[in-house]
Amino acid sequence: MGNMKTQLSFASLSEIKTELLAVLAVDTQTSKDRDAKPQPALLTTDPAVVAAAAQVLASGEFKAGANETLLLHAPAGLAARRLLLVGLGKQAKATVHLVRNAAGTSVRFTKPRGIKELVFSLPESLTGSPLHAMARAAVEGAFVGDFDPDTYRSDRKDQSVQSFTLAAPANADKKALEAAFAEGVIVGESQNFTRTLVNEPGNKLTPTILGERAAAMAKEVGLKSEVFSTEKLHELKMGAFWSVSQGSAEPPALIVLRYEPEGVKDGPVLGLVGKGITFDTGGISIKPSDSMEKMKYDMAGGAAMLGAMRAIALLKPRVRVIGIVCAAENMPDGKAYKPGDVVTAMSGKSIDIINTDAEGRLVLADGLTYARQLGVTHLIDAATLTGACVVALGMINAGAFANDEATYAKFEGALATSGEKFWRLPLGDEYADLIKSDIGDIKNTGGRWGGACTAAEFLKVFAEDTPWIHLDIAGLAWVEDSRPYIAKGPSGVGVRSILEWVRSF
Ligand code: BES
Ligand code: MN
Ligand code: ZN
Repeated sequence: MGNMKTQLSFASLSEIKTELLAVLAVDTQTSKDRDAKPQPALLTTDPAVVAAAAQVLASGEFKAGANETLLLHAPAGLAARRLLLVGLGKQAKATVHLVRNAAGTSVRFTKPRGIKELVFSLPESLTGSPLHAMARAAVEGAFVGDFDPDTYRSDRKDQSVQSFTLAAPANADKKALEAAFAEGVIVGESQNFTRTLVNEPGNKLTPTILGERAAAMAKEVGLKSEVFSTEKLHELKMGAFWSVSQGSAEPPALIVLRYEPEGVKDGPVLGLVGKGITFDTGGISIKPSDSMEKMKYDMAGGAAMLGAMRAIALLKPRVRVIGIVCAAENMPDGKAYKPGDVVTAMSGKSIDIINTDAEGRLVLADGLTYARQLGVTHLIDAATLTGACVVALGMINAGAFANDEATYAKFEGALATSGEKFWRLPLGDEYADLIKSDIGDIKNTGGRWGGACTAAEFLKVFAEDTPWIHLDIAGLAWVEDSRPYIAKGPSGVGVRSILEWVRSF
């Protein structure tokens, strides 16, 4: 993974010499009649490709369903050695997001077969999807598809596709396509940067090491970075963040990355705050051992912020951005914080600890306050925050919350580009009532029901009057069942949407 060379070609499809040429097809059948046969049609008019695929399309063996594949060897009239048909599903529903997936599917078809080279042909046109958007999405999808999480297997064969070529129609706007293509490479690589971090086990990615990885990335792409630890937490009076960290032999890391484009001296400053729990045992309110190993991905929100910062540094939007990751390990220990403890957050609010497994909101509380102290005008946070969010939305949509309509509208706009699925969930005084404490200002859990919403209400207290978005990615940060276009494992969810949100300013 990671060494895929990418290029853009405007050559005619039939003349491209390659191991494998992938072309897209849609099902043009519009009848609602259940017995109506699918009518697959290619999204290219290249006469040689059309001729090569004609027989199999007529046979009914290939229905052009989304991510359906069919391979032909030695296609007559083509310079390519193999022709791969990839379905996009019903024509009326085909979007740029299905093109992204189809590119991933093509890569994941190619990889295990030991074929090193792939040419992916963009549709000549797709209603509602400009060519440059499809180009960017296809490159993203190719990188997403190329990632496999088996880095620690000693029998790992590196079967990465070495060369990915995007073939675009010759009459396309070459400048626009080249720019979109370059963007796709940055976004795809940044999403995989996040996935690599999320995939790391807790023993190999402590808060300190996460800080080192963030600083190395920052140096590479030209971001300012600072990584603080215990002393700084005490100095800033981050009592909430510190309480989570205090039960671990591993010191916490407060990671701060800054993107300051030249000549941008005023306007908004965006604060990206991520939960970076490198392992969540639950602490004294310890989790059951079943699936506890999954809690290595409890830093996925933080990793998403780092991936987004990487992409921001390379794409250079005209807006200042501060990325903050609050990294700690949540462990049970003689020094660990306990249920019933009262801790004082950086903002001065006292927090009544009910459950030490509700640790994410504690580290984020101080991260949000710190971001505000650094002068951010808008906040977004991402966290694998609650199991309740997974119960509510399944592993289909991640949860989104906001205290400001205009800021959320920008996020919704970002989703149209990213293709990521987020569903807005409610905040409200009735939820806030559930986290009132008899002992302190606020308690860290709100009971069994509406857990995603009470967790968000908790964070809202620390966002104060700053426009803020909260993303609960607990259900989507880890892909439980592989799909044709993405491996089982870390997904990198959030990177693309957060990036587009930033670019909307
Ligand atoms: N990291 C977990 C949430 C989580 C659950 C992430 C499943 C990914 C998959 C979080 O720290 C947690 O333990 N939340 C508790 C909160 C509860 C104690 C109020 C939960 O959701 O059970
Ligand atoms: Mn927890
Ligand atoms: Zn957690």
